[in-house]
Amino acid sequence: MILNIDKFIKNNWGLFIYGPPSQGKTEVQSCVVNELCIDKDYKGIMVNVKRLMGDLKDAVGKGTLNKILDTIKKNEIIALNDITGGKRPQDEFSPFERGIIYELVDAVYEKEKTLIITGKYNYDWVEDKLGTDVKDRIIQMCGIEPILMKGHNFREEHGKKRDAEVKKMIQKIS
Ligand SMILES: Nc1ncnc2c1ncn2[C@@H]1O[C@H](COP(=O)(O)OP(=O)(O)O)[C@@H](O)[C@H]1O
Ligand SMILES: [Mg+2]
Repeated sequence: MILNIDKFIKNNWGLFIYGPPSQGKTEVQSCVVNELCIDKDYKGIMVNVKRLMGDLKDAVGKGTLNKILDTIKKNEIIALNDITGGKRPQDEFSPFERGIIYELVDAVYEKEKTLIITGKYNYDWVEDKLGTDVKDRIIQMCGIEPILMKGHNFREEHGKKRDAEVKKMIQKIS
């Protein structure tokens, strides 16, 4: 899918894909992770940020927070699915959530690993909600211009296909 993908890994380059829901961002992210981890044998992990936050909050009470973070950090490829974490533009991250994202992004940066992120908003949002430290690290690894995916609502498309099939089924019954 990406030509000379190993050069990405060697250079500590990543990808930041953003855009509205249903554009196929997670699909593309999964394909890249699969290519790296299944075809190329790199060690990787893909986590949904909102679910991860929930799990990590539970882990604090159980004393397993650092164990989970270390398990994530030891991968060569770290994919954060929807860094926006289900939030609307006006929503804020808690200090705990901001701390976790900083820690993960900084771990990838310091150890020169590969970060593949998807989210709904661009760097202005990253700077506003997660801070300049996080934004600058992502920019160095993932580039000045994140990849915008916009204009093709796959969920709506699948819903329309479903409707057409159901309509045919109803016509057959009546
Ligand atoms: N190229 C594609 N062709 C057909 N269906 C797709 C394609 N890309 C994504 N989808 C499907 O569309 C839905 C939304 O894709 P997803 O990657 O989750 O979007 P996003 O992450 O932008 O919200 C999923 O059911 C996914 O399997
Ligand atoms: Mg998604």
